[in-house]
Amino acid sequence: MSTVLITGGAGFIGSRLAARLTGEGHEVTVADVLHPQVHSGRGWPDELPAEVVRHPFDVTVPTAWDALLSTTRPDVVVHLAAETGTGQSLTEASRHGRVNVVGTTELVDGLSRAGHVPSRFVLASSRAVYGEGRWITDEGVAYDAAVRDAGRLAAGEWDPAPPAGAASAGRPLPHRAADTQPRPSNVYAATKLAQEHVLGAWASAHSADLSVLRLQNVYGPGQSLTNPYTGIVSLFAQIGLRRETIDVYEDGSIVRDFVFVDDVVTALATAVHAPPGAVLADIGSGDPTTLLGLARVICAQTGAPEPHVSGKYRLGDVRAASADIGDAAALLGYTPAFDLQAGIARLLEWIRASSRP
Ligand SMILES: NC(=O)c1ccc[n+]([C@@H]2O[C@H](COP(=O)([O-])OP(=O)(O)OC[C@H]3O[C@@H](n4cnc5c(N)ncnc54)[C@H](O)[C@@H]3O)[C@@H](O)[C@H]2O)c1
Repeated sequence: MSTVLITGGAGFIGSRLAARLTGEGHEVTVADVLHPQVHSGRGWPDELPAEVVRHPFDVTVPTAWDALLSTTRPDVVVHLAAETGTGQSLTEASRHGRVNVVGTTELVDGLSRAGHVPSRFVLASSRAVYGEGRWITDEGVAYDAAVRDAGRLAAGEWDPAPPAGAASAGRPLPHRAADTQPRPSNVYAATKLAQEHVLGAWASAHSADLSVLRLQNVYGPGQSLTNPYTGIVSLFAQIGLRRETIDVYEDGSIVRDFVFVDDVVTALATAVHAPPGAVLADIGSGDPTTLLGLARVICAQTGAPEPHVSGKYRLGDVRAASADIGDAAALLGYTPAFDLQAGIARLLEWIRASSRP
């Protein structure tokens, strides 16, 4: 069994991962600043088992790393601590750069000062690194889709501009790390890609392994219900439970790959004890849906009225994102266990239970 350090381990994904790894017999230390935007001053989450060692800790502070690494010599570092506000990152770029990029360079500097090289890093990266990703025209020509600019969105032209000579944009292709170029279209995405590069450079110089899992949209019990910047599924679910009308942006056909948190935790836990070697894989449900499709599943389970497709939009949102999970299956034996219906049912049950007095 290993000694595992989880940065950001009090968060949505981290606290469930800490519980899973503790249950498997690993010795788990969680280091987290308990960011008020995520935790609303509630302190350490109840999901963390009593055996987990907790460090109040800021990844950007060098002395915090020195203190932490004087008490633990982790075999594996799972790096989850991050600022995660995609839209927010366009107006608060330095905050995202400081925590996500400098926080990662401080991690490796701290390890260098401590003279310690973990055997493996596991990084929760994001599908955001792909930006608009790759599309394929009706004529079968694959191309890198351009960013949808403000003028295009204001005109209600929702799909990315088609390539020269094509009549329409065609359809999006699932992201696959091996053949989809990262082309970040917001600052958060750029910082996640930078984390991959920083850890990749340090790990290869020190002969450590790095597993990078590019997560699609994760949802499920434990996701902050008060953070207005993350989690469209929990937002829609709360509106549905109030029996109010869900407002669906653009023409309702934005595509996302909603993956249930326990499937993501399984992928991360498998990466923690994977055999030696680098891993780069996309983690999703393997079954993308439109936002209108998501809203309808929630309405059917809550009795909320038919969703309203409003034509509103957010600059920086991509039109389509989904994962090709073939590499995750081959490298990690990854098979998602939860479909959208089952995952939403569990999320609704948790929100109902959390809001009971
Ligand atoms: N949830 C998703 O849909 C999703 C998708 C792709 C990638 N990811 C990545 O997965 C990771 C975990 O995401 P999550 O959804 O659990 O987010 P979360 O916000 O619930 O958890 C992040 C944790 O990091 C902590 N943190 C923030 N700043 C810190 C700092 N300066 N020092 C120490 N701790 C700090 C927060 O307090 C929080 O507990 C992140 O790296 C995120 O980029 C998440």
